[in-house]
Amino acid sequence: MTEPGKSETRWQRKDLLGIRELSAEEVTFILDTADAFKEVGTREIKKVPALRGKTLVNFFVEPSTRTRTSFEIAAIRLSADVINISATSSSLTKGETLKDTAKILEANHADIIVLRHGSSGAPQFLAERLRSSIINAGDGAHEHPTQALLDLYTIRERKGAVAGLHVVIIGDILFSRVARSNIFGLLKLGARVTLVGPSTLVPREFEKLGVTVSYDIDEVLPTADVVNLLRIQHERQRKEYFPGVGEYIRLFGLTKDRAKLLKPDCLIMHPGPINRGVEIDSELADGAQSVILDQVTNGLAIRMAVLYLCGGIATP
Ligand code: CP
Repeated sequence: MTEPGKSETRWQRKDLLGIRELSAEEVTFILDTADAFKEVGTREIKKVPALRGKTLVNFFVEPSTRTRTSFEIAAIRLSADVINISATSSSLTKGETLKDTAKILEANHADIIVLRHGSSGAPQFLAERLRSSIINAGDGAHEHPTQALLDLYTIRERKGAVAGLHVVIIGDILFSRVARSNIFGLLKLGARVTLVGPSTLVPREFEKLGVTVSYDIDEVLPTADVVNLLRIQHERQRKEYFPGVGEYIRLFGLTKDRAKLLKPDCLIMHPGPINRGVEIDSELADGAQSVILDQVTNGLAIRMAVLYLCGGIATP
């Protein structure tokens, strides 16, 4: 592996809290660093000593399959020691505050804390109070930076570049941290972004970010280079935002008929978890244009890059 060039320059952050605050150069630097780590995954012995002696705590207060597993495997491949804590297995259930729980982790010499939390801003709250490196693994409806980075990586890998592409994000944008992080990252790297979904979940206010909002999926699909389907996040909604699932599929679902509108080389993406048959037809999710499993594989390289870069800055 070519040694990633952290010392040369361009990475000075102990925390990764969101994409919004990163420069385009920092985003590209993470993607380039991930290139070097992706090669490690092709070796017979998929391990490097980059974080030997460091301790990583995977602290997931909300459920996760992909992100938690990916961070754990990434840390193991970097030779870090890993501890997993969930909401139900921690003293949060006994009334301990997030700050006190995190202070305990730091007192146990946790170098890196990967936090998923239902409250927007929870990772920033810890980052301002702890010397440990804090990595945001998804906070409320705010940001999910490593998901956006792995999405950008997958697009760049398949299309050669992100700049100039038309990326269409479809579904529940209002409650989606994935959408927010993707919007920031895609615009920084020069893509054109269109958001599509029910007006209740895709308010026109999003246009202030520099994207286009559309309520007509059939008009938008033929010009898309990438479509990214998002799940309806019922767990974050306190009321119904559209009449029903059947209505949603009819108006916004990527059905087999609707997929005929796509260019043959249009990438179909989904961050998961998928509700098959709702936001995307099940066969399309597994079809030739789908890069959903590539996203998962690339997530490992991205998380290795992020842990390597931030873990080298933290000094607990
Ligand atoms: N994409 C994503 O964040 O999935 P998980 O909730 O399974 O981590």
